[in-house]
Amino acid sequence: MEIIVVPDPESVGDVAAERIAELVRRKPDAVLGVATGSSPVPTYRSLEQRVRNGLDVSGVSAFALDEYVGLSEGHPQSYAEVVRREVTERLGLDPERVHVPKGHAVDVPTACEEYEEAIRAAGGVDLQILGIGSNGHIGFNEPSSSLAGRTRVKTLTPTTRRDNARFFDDDLSQVPTHCITQGIGTILDSGLALLVASGEGKAEAVAAMAEGPVGAFCPASALQLHRRSVVVVDEAAASLLT
Ligand code: F6R
Repeated sequence: MEIIVVPDPESVGDVAAERIAELVRRKPDAVLGVATGSSPVPTYRSLEQRVRNGLDVSGVSAFALDEYVGLSEGHPQSYAEVVRREVTERLGLDPERVHVPKGHAVDVPTACEEYEEAIRAAGGVDLQILGIGSNGHIGFNEPSSSLAGRTRVKTLTPTTRRDNARFFDDDLSQVPTHCITQGIGTILDSGLALLVASGEGKAEAVAAMAEGPVGAFCPASALQLHRRSVVVVDEAAASLLT
C-alpha cells in the first residue's frame, strides 16, 4: 500500500487526478470504478481541468461502486444522478459507457449479478476510486461484510445513514436503509485501488485501514491485500498514522 500525505483536500484531488490521467493517457479505453460522496469531488474537479486542457476521455468507461435501493429513478440523491452530475457531465464521458447498479430494479439480486457480468464483459476495472466511511467501509461494505463479497444488496448501518443524512436535508427518515454495493472481492479485482480521504473525521478509519489488522471489522483493511493500492490523504486524515 502506497500512502501519500498532502496538505489539504485540493492537493488530494490533484494527486489522485494525475494518477487517473496517467492511466487514461496510457490506456485511452480505461475502465474506471467511481465512488460518490464528498471525498472524490476535488479529484473529479481536478480531472475536469485536465480534460479542459486536452485529456481525451472519449474512450473511458465507468462503473459506480454503489447505489441506494428504493429511491425513485431520477431522485437527485440517487447515485445514478450524482454520477451523472459529478462525473459524466463534468468530465464529458459518453453516458452509454457509464454504469450504475439499478437500485430501482424490480429484481434487485438479478440486477446485481448483471452488474458483475457487465464489469467482467468490460474487461474489469482498471482503476477503482474509493472513499472511506468513518466506520471503515468502502463502497457500502459495512463492518462485518465478507472480504470476498461480490455486488449484492446490503443493509446500511445507523452510522452510515446518519453520516449521509446531510445529503437528504438532514432528515434521517429520508435516507434509504438498503443499498447495492460492489463487494470487497469485486474491489480487490481492480487493477489499482485509489483511495482518497480528507479531514480528521477520517483519521481513525484511515489508521485502521492502513495499520490495523486485516479483517471484516474494518472492511477497508482488505486493501492491504490489494496488489496495487494507493491511498492519498490530507494531513488531518493522516494524523493517526504512526
Ligand atoms: C460512495 C461510497 C462510500 C463513500 C464513503 C465516504 O460511493 O462508496 O464508501 O466513499 O461513505 O463518503 P464521503 O466521501 O462523503 O465522506
